[in-house]
Amino acid sequence: MKILVLGSGAREHAIILALASEQARHEILAAPGNAGIARDATIARDADGGVLNPEDPAAVTEYANAHAIDLVVIGPEAPLVAGVADALREHGIPVFGPGRAAAQLEGSKTFAKRIMDAAGVPTGRAVRAQTIDEVRAALDELGAPHVVKADGLAAGKGVIVTEDRDAALAHAAEFLPTGAVLVEEFLAGPEVSLFFLSDGDTVRPLSPAQDFKRLGDGDSGPNTGGMGAYSPLPWLADSFGDERSFVDLVTETVALPVIRELDREGTPFIGLLYAGLILTDSGVKVIEFNARFGDPETQVVLPRLITPLSRLLLSAASGTLEDEPRPEFSDAAAVTVVLASEGYPVAPVTGRAIEGLDAAASIEGVHIAHAATRDQDGELVATGGRVLNVVAVADDFTTARERAYRALAQIELAGGQYRTDIAARVAG
Ligand code: AMP
Ligand code: GLY
Repeated sequence: MKILVLGSGAREHAIILALASEQARHEILAAPGNAGIARDATIARDADGGVLNPEDPAAVTEYANAHAIDLVVIGPEAPLVAGVADALREHGIPVFGPGRAAAQLEGSKTFAKRIMDAAGVPTGRAVRAQTIDEVRAALDELGAPHVVKADGLAAGKGVIVTEDRDAALAHAAEFLPTGAVLVEEFLAGPEVSLFFLSDGDTVRPLSPAQDFKRLGDGDSGPNTGGMGAYSPLPWLADSFGDERSFVDLVTETVALPVIRELDREGTPFIGLLYAGLILTDSGVKVIEFNARFGDPETQVVLPRLITPLSRLLLSAASGTLEDEPRPEFSDAAAVTVVLASEGYPVAPVTGRAIEGLDAAASIEGVHIAHAATRDQDGELVATGGRVLNVVAVADDFTTARERAYRALAQIELAGGQYRTDIAARVAG
């Protein structure tokens, strides 16, 4: 197949590596990509020779037509919101990614709550507030700890969870000028990310993962885009018997009702439904939906996938997921640790050289997914906050962790920072 992957992060690199590892050979194109992606795919260029703009619906459609692309895979959210999937679908080009309307499941917390209410999906109680007085009343009604969320996309900075009522009010005051905020009931328990492929009608679950959102060890410091992840989650067996029972429960109580509701409302969801869940004492509840693969969870879920990814994505894009058996996963333990630039997430220092990647990748079971890198005069440099994902796969988590951290020790990036406790809980 000829597959075009849109995006530039480690998630997209992970998708490309999974496609490239299949027995069937594919021609993989990517836009805009990064230095790592450019080694495993061809960077897509428009007629003028510039890198194809992944957020331009007309340009992507023209490119896909001109190059006879069989499948477009949309990694990040921005092209979804820009209507790239809608444009491709209008032209009959198979695309994995929802249209603008269905992508609101991620883009608007109010929309997501309404769909969950209509579908009877378990989630925290929430109050939509448009003035600071409404926020005050909601904080008092729901009690501490306080959870306040910006309604729209806020690049991971829209949510505060705090015991401090004044901090909750200040957060609300910051986001009220941009629209409503949601004050939400605090949910206590471990978090799980579970992904579903959807063709608008049928869903197929992937294997669960957990990510680490805070910058520092022991979940200290500010929220980030994600500092690491692991999959599978062996402790699910304690409460659910096994992973499959958990996944089946979430499929029945969360994924299918939401997909059916969206279909009923005329906004079918074709792509990846990301359910962010908290396992509370009173059951599994949704804290958020995303309309795309999670980052960095994808970097640990896809290396365990046995079923060819291209077949699953094309079936979802073509409405034939019903014919696909449940995706199969290996029992291997996968761990990813993110290497971030100095100053991330507040003010990342970019442009610094990265060295030692070949030595790191030569360690058994280790590979590198690039997040923000560029080749500059033959040298690899960091171009953003999260720079690389070291991914390690092994028979058990102890070995996977040991490999990942041994690989990180080989990599040089001045001021680089990473967590040292990723998957520590599941290692022996
Ligand atoms: P979100 O952007 O909605 O995923 O929220 C970011 C993070 O805030 C989540 O990963 C949780 O750790 C935390 N969070 C969000 N909503 C809640 C909630 N209702 N109760 C407890 N923690 C939450
Ligand atoms: N891992 C969190 C996200 O992708 O939003």
